[in-house]
Amino acid sequence: MNHIPVLVEEFLKYAVCVSERPVLLDGTFGRGGHSQAWLEKFPQGNVIAYDRDPEMVRIFQQEKSPYREKIQLNLGSYAEASFPEFSFDTILLDLGFSSLHVDTFERGFSFRYHQPLDMRYNKNEGLPVSEWINHAKEKEIAHVLREYGEEKQAYKIARSIVKARMIQKIETTTQLKEIIQNAVRTKKGKVYSDRHPYVKTFQALRIFVNQEFKHLEKALTKLPYMLKPGGRLMVISFHSLEDRMVKQAFRRLEFQENPDPFAKSARIEGDFLLPIRKAIQPSEQEKERNRRSRSAKMRILERKSL
Ligand SMILES: C[S@@+](CC[C@H](N)C(=O)[O-])C[C@H]1O[C@@H](n2cnc3c(N)ncnc32)[C@H](O)[C@@H]1O
Repeated sequence: MNHIPVLVEEFLKYAVCVSERPVLLDGTFGRGGHSQAWLEKFPQGNVIAYDRDPEMVRIFQQEKSPYREKIQLNLGSYAEASFPEFSFDTILLDLGFSSLHVDTFERGFSFRYHQPLDMRYNKNEGLPVSEWINHAKEKEIAHVLREYGEEKQAYKIARSIVKARMIQKIETTTQLKEIIQNAVRTKKGKVYSDRHPYVKTFQALRIFVNQEFKHLEKALTKLPYMLKPGGRLMVISFHSLEDRMVKQAFRRLEFQENPDPFAKSARIEGDFLLPIRKAIQPSEQEKERNRRSRSAKMRILERKSL
């Protein structure tokens, strides 16, 4: 299955071109849906893109895209992007994983398929989940599940993981799914959860092994300064903690600390504004068409004109 880009219409509505030679920084290229849509709107533009997954870069290099000449795709994290001030008209981060990670690459991103428990975007970076989960302390596992998945049953699940791995090494999504299912079951066999009880654990482990929050935190401090005056940074997130990080970072940029310690107000207006204060969410039609879009939220930061 291919990836259906999320909130494309809204992205195009608010994406801007503030110069004669507009440039988009697409920090999470994937299959390039947003980049292509942006180039259709701004045919005079060019795209500099990043993806952390070598497979995504390979697919792009092998396909015949009419936009090939206009897109420079780099392998690496958006957090490592380093460009001078005033480089981009639009910057996009469409966070998380692509449908290809779930349906095509066999890396254990979803509990729906029986696959090896890896979950890394790049197999050359960090440890696969299976390596970590078989060695980490119970407390560490519980901490990760709570911190990155907001899983209320984190301690129960962590205890079950540690018990289960004494008998057999945990190597597949199916094993992990069964462990979670048993951990969250009541004595009467009922499962405590309104959704699939595995969603939060799988999500937490993916975020942890890929250090996703660290990359986002770093990017939010540097990408805004790469915008041209009037340019916009747009972030689409799928996780409440990510959305909170984006919201707070944007607020800090809107109102900076007042350098005058004797001034009446502790904060003053900064170099950025929020053209839309609320997060933009998909329409009901989009949610129906594309289930993956249901939890998406887009926030926009604009660099003030000089
Ligand atoms: C939601 S998909 C992007 C989909 C894309 N907008 C499209 O239309 O096809 C997120 C992509 O970002 C990549 N990714 C995740 N974390 C990244 C990071 N820190 N830096 C660069 N790419 C990242 C993933 O490999 C994935 O391909």
